[in-house]
Amino acid sequence: MTDFIRDVRREYKYATLSRTEVEKNPLDQFRRWIGEAEKAQIQDVTAMALATADAKGQPSVRIVLLKGFDETGFSWFSDGGSEKGLALAGNPRAELLFHWRELDRQIRIRGQVVTLSQAEADAYFYSRPLASQLAAATSAQSRPVANREELESRYKLLAEKHTERAPRPAAWGGFKLQPEAYEFWQGREGRLHDRLHFQLDANQQWHLQRLQP
Ligand SMILES: Cc1cc2nc3c(=O)[nH]c(=O)nc-3n(C[C@H](O)[C@H](O)[C@H](O)COP(=O)(O)O)c2cc1C
Repeated sequence: MTDFIRDVRREYKYATLSRTEVEKNPLDQFRRWIGEAEKAQIQDVTAMALATADAKGQPSVRIVLLKGFDETGFSWFSDGGSEKGLALAGNPRAELLFHWRELDRQIRIRGQVVTLSQAEADAYFYSRPLASQLAAATSAQSRPVANREELESRYKLLAEKHTERAPRPAAWGGFKLQPEAYEFWQGREGRLHDRLHFQLDANQQWHLQRLQP
């Protein structure tokens, strides 16, 4: 049934990426590529894999949604008590990964993660639909629950009590990765892909290198 797996392959012919094509500042290059992905109507264009490692070095990875980016970093929102929240509290290093398969592109962004302010957490939390607020208030993310019914009855109780806005759980908030390295990957024909890697130096200057595919 799964014999097909070995033989799944396709050619990547969408585009190229070279030193002359790439922006000088990786943030501008990110802006350009996510703009092109949006224009290509890629679904879940803001979905990114967030890789963390806890204080013991155990890696874990999951998808979160990018909620903003600028020269200060890339942000998302989550529960600080979740597996990733606890991992980041013990080891604030992480990597983000975007994969836009229709464009044969992957972007990796590595750096230090900081938490956003309570005011920023409130601003985003209360901008979400009431149902999302209630779901966040219901769920102690990543901790076990006996069954679905328990979750639903907790949700219902909260929904009866809070008809306009739900209380933001204290641990729920924003996180921001401050980039120290970026890699832009463009798939190429015959697997000789383009990989351009930017590294920030001690003087806050970006250094560009081509990596072997
Ligand atoms: C498309 C998609 C978007 C998601 N967005 C978020 C998000 O923005 N924040 C979040 O905490 N979890 C999000 N999740 C759920 C996470 O992948 C994950 O299940 C959850 O955060 C618990 O992860 P953890 O146990 O590693 O902490 C999303 C999942 C998918 C598939």
